[in-house]
Amino acid sequence: MSRNADLQPEPQPGEIPVEQSLRPRRLAEFIGQQRLKDNLAVFLEAARQRREALDHLLLYGPPGLGKTTVAHIVANELGATIHVTSGPAIERPGDLVGILTNLDDGAVLFIDEIHRLSRPVEEILYPAMEDRKVDILIGKGPAARSIRLDVPPFTVVGATTRQGLLTGPLRDRFGIVLHFGFYGPDALLAIIQRSSRILGYAIEQEGAEEIARRSRGTPRIANRLLRRVRDFAQVAGSETITLDIAQRALEALEVDHLGLDRVDRTLLEAMIRKYGGGPVGLDTLAASTGEDAGTIEDVYEPYLLQQGLIQRTPRGRCATSLAYRHLGIPEPRRAEPPGLFDE
Ligand SMILES: Nc1ncnc2c1ncn2[C@@H]1O[C@H](COP(=O)(O)OP(=O)(O)OP(=O)(O)O)[C@@H](O)[C@H]1O
Ligand SMILES: [Mg+2]
Repeated sequence: MSRNADLQPEPQPGEIPVEQSLRPRRLAEFIGQQRLKDNLAVFLEAARQRREALDHLLLYGPPGLGKTTVAHIVANELGATIHVTSGPAIERPGDLVGILTNLDDGAVLFIDEIHRLSRPVEEILYPAMEDRKVDILIGKGPAARSIRLDVPPFTVVGATTRQGLLTGPLRDRFGIVLHFGFYGPDALLAIIQRSSRILGYAIEQEGAEEIARRSRGTPRIANRLLRRVRDFAQVAGSETITLDIAQRALEALEVDHLGLDRVDRTLLEAMIRKYGGGPVGLDTLAASTGEDAGTIEDVYEPYLLQQGLIQRTPRGRCATSLAYRHLGIPEPRRAEPPGLFDE
């Protein structure tokens, strides 16, 4: 899926190790998502006590909220090996058979973007998840016969940004489904403070709060803004990230006080100025702003919806009064249909 360069930047070569060093490795280091964490801790402990593989686990939620992080934490907490792959990477059923039959006992098989598995590959995955068997076809033509191979006990950890895109049979095979919601300001503050400790850069409480407020509820964005704000602090010769530096940097990065960036505002403005506030269909909006429809739906829309700036209706997306106010555009008075009892 193509993603907007500002929100979901490909990490620069030097930043990949940084991104990894910021990633919590154990459940205790993972900040926020308290209910998810509490539940997961119970399931992990129960599996450990029974000396069994953990039940298959589906993680879903918008990008950057910690799905990949949790997949690795699960493997660490179980002391299991992890095999990392993704829906689009498994092209042929045979590729998956190869992976499954080579897993270590109790391994975690992390399948990112699991909604993008092809049907034939899914067909291999079902019996593997359910009965730990794979069926393979040997030979060709009339002489071909199918044999069943055993798969060691293992746990599929699937990640997806949209659970709705999963086929029913696949979704049903996950015993545990965990949803990631946006992070609150306290959790983001703690994440920013932890990250700046790891980066070795001091940050004032107010500076960290300012970044947290503008991180659209997303740890990945909090960390990215922190790194950029640190660049501003460093070039300004300041050893500490102060509130003033944070504000100036975020201003320069065009991130407003709700955390909206240029693309968010372009989308809202298009809805309001070109389509009278909506309803407007996703594809129309994508075509008129030059953004990819999938990116709008996965990356931008969830936060705009959560902030109450847009609404989804059966006929399309609508900008709310809040969106008009946020952009400083006067809202036209909508003609009310005359009431029954009007004089
Ligand atoms: N709860 C958390 N505490 C601290 N840091 C976190 C937390 N969740 C995520 N992060 C940080 O945010 C970054 C992004 O998280 P992650 O890669 O796990 O997101 P994701 O949900 O897999 O996103 P995508 O859908 O784009 O794959 C991680 O590198 C990590 O540093
Ligand atoms: Mg991920």
